[in-house]
Formats: sequence, structure tokens, C-alpha cells
Amino acid sequence: MTILRFAADLRSLPQPVMFVPTMGGLHEGHLNLIHAAKRHGGTVVASIFVNPTQFGDRADFDAYQRDLGRDGELAEGAGCDVIFAPSVEQMYPGGTEATRVHVPEVTDKWEGEHRPSHFDGVATVVSALFNMVRPAKAFFGQKDWQQCVVVAKMVRDLGYPIELRFEETVREPHGLAMSSRNERLSADARRRAAVLYTAIRKTADEFRLGGEPRAAEANTSTILLQGGFESVDYVAIVDEDTLAQADLPTGQHRVIAAAQIEGVRLIDNIRV
Ligand code: PAJ
Repeated sequence: MTILRFAADLRSLPQPVMFVPTMGGLHEGHLNLIHAAKRHGGTVVASIFVNPTQFGDRADFDAYQRDLGRDGELAEGAGCDVIFAPSVEQMYPGGTEATRVHVPEVTDKWEGEHRPSHFDGVATVVSALFNMVRPAKAFFGQKDWQQCVVVAKMVRDLGYPIELRFEETVREPHGLAMSSRNERLSADARRRAAVLYTAIRKTADEFRLGGEPRAAEANTSTILLQGGFESVDYVAIVDEDTLAQADLPTGQHRVIAAAQIEGVRLIDNIRV
């Protein structure tokens, strides 16, 4: 496996390229994307770039796990051929306050509301990475469902000739979605945090069986607070493509949620 620092070095790779964008701190969720990319053949390229423009908080950006040696070994073990690890200066030659890609509407609510400008940072860096890596297919995790919707809209609106694949969320044995943030939890909180998954599953079941959606959402918030989360940013039953809050169980929906435990903000979602 090779680690490349410069976009120009990506030009000579055997095509087609299967691309897995990440910020490093790799875990089974990321490795599952690399496995999926591998199954599609071609050259598997994973990017590792902690993107400053998608962090609201400078301290959060500075504290982000950075260990290219560890990540390289894990990625190689999963079948990755090339890691693209650019510097901030290469990624943002005009500085981090330069051109932004803004995807309207689907970024207004949920994560967008609680993390202002986050999705502008994500759309901008994914757009620039797509231009540098020029993949045939790109792989994202359903764990960040709103991010999937945002990237899908950007690709459609800007005509990127890239096929997107959204892979299932990888979970710990008790159900908690894998995340580098889980490492910051005490053993006790990590065990209790599994209620996030069980609670949204229950919400999905209630809604499917005809339950009133606003009541089901409110019940879920209560369950999370009783289960050890100190605050809930949102629990919502939404249309899978538009992210508009759902009233009737016709169409395809997801239950999405974000909540804090031990000061760590966790998100999860499941398909109804
Ligand atoms: P990062 O948080 O490193 O995640 C990289 C990819 O791994 C994303 O597509 C994310 O949805 C996926 N992923 C994370 N945890 C997962 C899990 N438990 N199961 C399945 N997939 C999981 O998301 C980002 O980085 C950035 O926003 C990025 C797209 C790289 C742009 O900077």
C-alpha cells in the first residue's frame, strides 16, 4: 500500500478508482467501506484528511485523533491500495476561507441546525476530493445519513460522474454505532449509550404500526434522558430523501437522532 501526499500522484493510478473518504481514526465502520470498495474491483483509494472547515470548534479539530501509521496498517489489512493524505495547504490552496460549496434545504435542519456551517465544510471538501481523486464510485456510511443526502444532492446538482454507494452502519455488539467518539466515553456510558439504538428502533416500530409520529419522537427523547443521556438535540422521523418530518408511514422513512452523554455528542439513525 502507498501513501500519497499530492493530488498529482493520483493521476497515474490504474482506473477505475473506488474511493472512501475519511478523517482517519479508523474503526470497523471505515474498514467496512474499504471492504465494500474492494468488492467493486479497481484501485481502492481512501483519503485521510481531518477537514478544518467542517468543525465548529477549533479545540475539537485539534483534539481529533491523528495516527497515520495505525490507520495505514488497518486500511491495508482491509484491502486499501492507496491512502491519499494531503496537508491542509494542499487541500485548501486558497486558504480555508476560500470558495464554499453550499447544498441548500437538506442542510437546513437536524445536524445543520446544531452544527452551523458543518455541511458547507463537508460539501466543499468532498467536492475538492472528488476532483483530485476522480473516482468512478465513492463509498459513504449510512451512520451519517444526512451527510449521505447532502453528498447525493451535490453530486446530482453539479453533475459529478460518480456512482455513490451508501453502506450499512457497523455497530458494537450491543448496538451502539461505531464512532471514534465512543472512545471518549467511560465503560459505563458506552454500555448505556446503546439505548440510542434500541430507542430509535422502537420509534421505527411504533411509526410503522400506525403510531402518531410526534408522540413517538417525544417518547424516544424521554427514554434517552431516562437511559443516561443528559440532553437530546433531536429525535425525528423523516423522509429518507428530503429529510422532511414525516406524518404518515407512506414512503420511505428514517428515524434520526442526536444526543449527548458524558459531554460526547452521538448520532444514529435507522430505516423504518
Ligand atoms: P469520518 O467521520 O471519518 O467518516 C468516514 C466515513 O465512514 C463516512 O462516510 C461515515 O459515514 C463512515 N462511518 C463512520 N462510522 C461508521 C459506522 N459505524 N458504520 C458505517 N459507516 C461509518 O464522515 C466523515 O469522516 C467526513 O465528513 C468526510 C466525508 C470524510 C468529509 O470530511
